Amino acid sequence: MKILVIGGGGREHALVWKLRQSPRVTEIYCAPGNGGIADEAEGLPVDIKNLDSLVAVANRIQPDLTIVGPEVPLMLGVVDEFTIRGWRTFGPTQAAARLESSKSFAKQFLQRHHIPTAHYAICDSSPQVRDALPHFHTPIVVKADGLAAGKGVVIAKSKDEAATVANEMLSGRMLGEAGSRVVLEEFLQGDELSFLVVSDGERVAPLVAAQDHKRVGDGDTGPNTGGMGAYTTPTIIDAQMRDWLINHIARPVVAGMKAEGAEYKGVLYCGLMMTARGPMVLEFNCRFGDPETQPILMRLESDLVEAMEASIEGRTSDGDFKWSNDSSVCVVMASGGYPGIFEAGKKISGLDEVANLDGVKVFHAGTSKRDGSFFTSGGRVLGVTARAVDLKIAVQRAYEACSKITFDGAHYRKDIAARALKK
Ligand code: AMP
Ligand code: GLY
Repeated sequence: MKILVIGGGGREHALVWKLRQSPRVTEIYCAPGNGGIADEAEGLPVDIKNLDSLVAVANRIQPDLTIVGPEVPLMLGVVDEFTIRGWRTFGPTQAAARLESSKSFAKQFLQRHHIPTAHYAICDSSPQVRDALPHFHTPIVVKADGLAAGKGVVIAKSKDEAATVANEMLSGRMLGEAGSRVVLEEFLQGDELSFLVVSDGERVAPLVAAQDHKRVGDGDTGPNTGGMGAYTTPTIIDAQMRDWLINHIARPVVAGMKAEGAEYKGVLYCGLMMTARGPMVLEFNCRFGDPETQPILMRLESDLVEAMEASIEGRTSDGDFKWSNDSSVCVVMASGGYPGIFEAGKKISGLDEVANLDGVKVFHAGTSKRDGSFFTSGGRVLGVTARAVDLKIAVQRAYEACSKITFDGAHYRKDIAARALKK
């Protein structure tokens, strides 16, 4: 079976690594891939924001199964385009991907289907923001409606700040078209949880839950990033909570989308806040999380191809995934300056040394390969991932590997999974 993975980050490296373990897979391509992925799949240069180029790539290789990593091609309708041409593709259609591509759609959908989420107001203009603000307590969460690559959420400490940020977004200066509508939201407190399921449009199969670390600095300080690390353990949530999340969030979302004529197939990523009032939805992503996918797939023992085919063919069942009882953790090593401006092209050393460490796998994100050496080429550079019988050992292994890898300006959080270890 010929596989095409679209994307070129750490998540796609983890997908390629796992898919290659399937006895069904004979050839694997990644468009565009990255320096590290190129060792495990054939890279195909492409602009993933251009549907015509993606169609041209698929036309050339005629994949038996395509997996879409990032949100942008999904929002552009890559699944619709590929499916029309007879290429089996794992993921939601453009209409179903609105759960991620429009936060106002997602909030109204949640409300229509009585799924718990924070109070909110949708605003298209400054006067609407001014009228809505008195109904909120501070801090207030201000979100751009459209896709903003993790930069579309600001937690404003005062109403003045909320108004300023919302108006900046509405003006188009801050995020362009993505900010032409904003969502104001009640601030929720609690632990965040990434709960992912695979759906066939009707049924769901849960993945193990994970926790991301979004802020750049230790102790959850500094600006938000795409994610600086994630972990998963068998006890991150218990079976009762898992069943609650399936019955009160994942299944109602899938049923609601079907009822509204936009059947949801593929990965549904529920970004949750575990509040004193119970779990509440912060956001949906219509794809695997990055970096959550790296530690999640380290624990997957069953065949990922089978589960993806089941989703496409409408025969998902809740036991589609078999998991190891180990724990795993991913620590992201980033370029100096990230999530702000950073320089690329720094030589990475130490990768050979960690290649044989027990239970460790380094997934590449922003890397390129030249003359046998790896260089940085993005903000998030590597996802140093480790698996072990318990979380403490997994964390030690990941950090041992991080300490051996160097590049100019490298930084990473030292406290990934630290709160879980304290509990
Ligand atoms: P989102 O893209 O909507 O998940 O927002 C990105 C991050 O902002 C989340 O992972 C949270 O850390 C934070 N966030 C979003 N919405 C809220 C909220 N209502 N209350 C508190 N934090 C939030
Ligand atoms: N780790 C968060 C995301 O994938 O959006």
